[in-house]
Amino acid sequence: MDMNAAAIDLAGPGRHGILPPPSRERFNTPPAAPEPRPGERVFTHDGRPLWLRPIDPGDVAAMRRCFKRLSPEEIRRRFLHAMAELPEPMAQRLCRIDPARETAFVLMDDTTDPQEMRGVGRIYVDETTHGAEFSVLVEHDWARKGLGALLMRRLVEDCRRRGLDEIWGYVLLENRPMLHLCKELGFTRRFCPDEPGVIQLALLL
Ligand SMILES: CC(C)(COP(=O)(O)OP(=O)(O)OC[C@H]1O[C@@H](n2cnc3c(N)ncnc32)[C@H](O)[C@@H]1OP(=O)(O)O)[C@@H](O)C(=O)NCCC(=O)NCCS
Repeated sequence: MDMNAAAIDLAGPGRHGILPPPSRERFNTPPAAPEPRPGERVFTHDGRPLWLRPIDPGDVAAMRRCFKRLSPEEIRRRFLHAMAELPEPMAQRLCRIDPARETAFVLMDDTTDPQEMRGVGRIYVDETTHGAEFSVLVEHDWARKGLGALLMRRLVEDCRRRGLDEIWGYVLLENRPMLHLCKELGFTRRFCPDEPGVIQLALLL
């Protein structure tokens, strides 16, 4: 008797048509690979690869690890005040965005396990002014490689896609890197009389 033929008969469509597959088959299959998320491979000026993709609710742990690597100065420049840690509820809120009013892109380093977040850029739509407020962050080991400019350009594109009139953000006057970056992208400065030490940078779209 051809043993192979017997084996094929037993596992064939006749059996599976009547009974569910045996449990060893049902539970031994590896979990399906996660759906690839839409993203774009980008490279720093010195050739290091990163994924640029929309932020995701699953990014909370990576965001909190990224925050821990920031210097007090970077934190102050990003949030305009000192913060000792990024509380979990705040990280959850930052990662679970409302797409009607927010866009946030992350730059993920998948050469590490787990993947690390190296940069974040976001906008928050202000319906009353028909504009959006931006914020951007690139961690220091990855700074000066073109990533801040890349994130800002993507945010500007997103604001245009939304049909907004303006993108703007508050920046500390001492934040020379951000002032330079925005100047190169065509932003203009507006003084904030009520906020000493802070300037508004804006780009009409
Ligand atoms: C500001 C910040 C986003 C810049 O990111 P980055 O990835 O270093 O920026 P890029 O490499 O794209 O630089 C683009 C341009 O910005 C300017 N720039 C960036 N870093 C600079 C620095 N340290 N000194 C002077 N100019 C600088 C330059 O014009 C640069 O172009 P160049 O490198 O061709 O000269 C980053 O330093 C950061 O995250 N800082 C802390 C958070 C913050 O300040 N956010 C802004 C307020 S929300």
